[in-house]
Amino acid sequence: MQPTTAIDRPTTDPAVPFRSIQFEWPDDTRSEWHPSKPEFAAACNALSLGMPYGEPYVIASVRAVLDDIDNDTAPELAEQARAYIAQERGHYRHHRRFNDLVTAEHPALKRIERWLAISYRWLRRRRSREFNVAFAAGFEAVAFAAARWIDSNRREFFAGAETLPSTLFLWHLAEEVEHKNVAFDVWQHVDGKRLRYVGAMATAFVLLTWFILLGTITQLWKTRRIFNPLTWIRLVSWGIRFTFDALPTMAMTALPGHHPSDLADPSWMPMWLQSYDSETGTIPAWDAPIDIGSC
Ligand SMILES: [Fe+2]
Ligand SMILES: [Fe+2]
Repeated sequence: MQPTTAIDRPTTDPAVPFRSIQFEWPDDTRSEWHPSKPEFAAACNALSLGMPYGEPYVIASVRAVLDDIDNDTAPELAEQARAYIAQERGHYRHHRRFNDLVTAEHPALKRIERWLAISYRWLRRRRSREFNVAFAAGFEAVAFAAARWIDSNRREFFAGAETLPSTLFLWHLAEEVEHKNVAFDVWQHVDGKRLRYVGAMATAFVLLTWFILLGTITQLWKTRRIFNPLTWIRLVSWGIRFTFDALPTMAMTALPGHHPSDLADPSWMPMWLQSYDSETGTIPAWDAPIDIGSC
């Protein structure tokens, strides 16, 4: 049986549209969906593991200030925020289904899921409303930096990988580009303190990288790839390249007067999203020719 996953949630905001995309995961979906770069698949799986915990936290953080935004007569921003919430909800629900397949193969990852739940629950309950909104904005800055890096290196990373998991990760990152401004605008509206933003963004970055590392090592231990020097050469090389590419982008977002719209979008992802077919809830494979006329 092939489970069909579709999440219907229309939005009226054209700037942050909701795509009812469908993923049909075959029962034989494997966690090693990238034969030539299993370490990359493991890192993506580890990132995916955190989405059903991190994204509900940022959603709750933005939703908690929606009434204030409405009361401050900023209806456009409130509408953007609602559309942003709808997109993020679609993301983590699809990741949760994918994660079920991965954790069935790697039960040890369930312990990491419990740690993720504890970490984000602690932030949600113990930190201030302002910190939570700053975290959402910082989380988005990290996601945008990652999307830009992956966009420019997509052929290197995804060539030879299975189509469905590749589509999940690239679609998610492409929509992160699309809503890059929203959480930042919400944070600016309700708080705007740069120091808090820097601390929250650093927290988001450390949490994401720590849990990606833990999840990746857990999978590579089981497959014994952890004892292969090539595995470590690749992981360290990707880590260094990502750090040098993403950190300057993230740092720029903390400068006074900066707005995420000042940063150039990656070139391919926004074009690819335009080829989404709303009738079928599908998007062409990432390496297929883009036919914008089909949207
Ligand atoms: Fe997302
Ligand atoms: Fe996002």
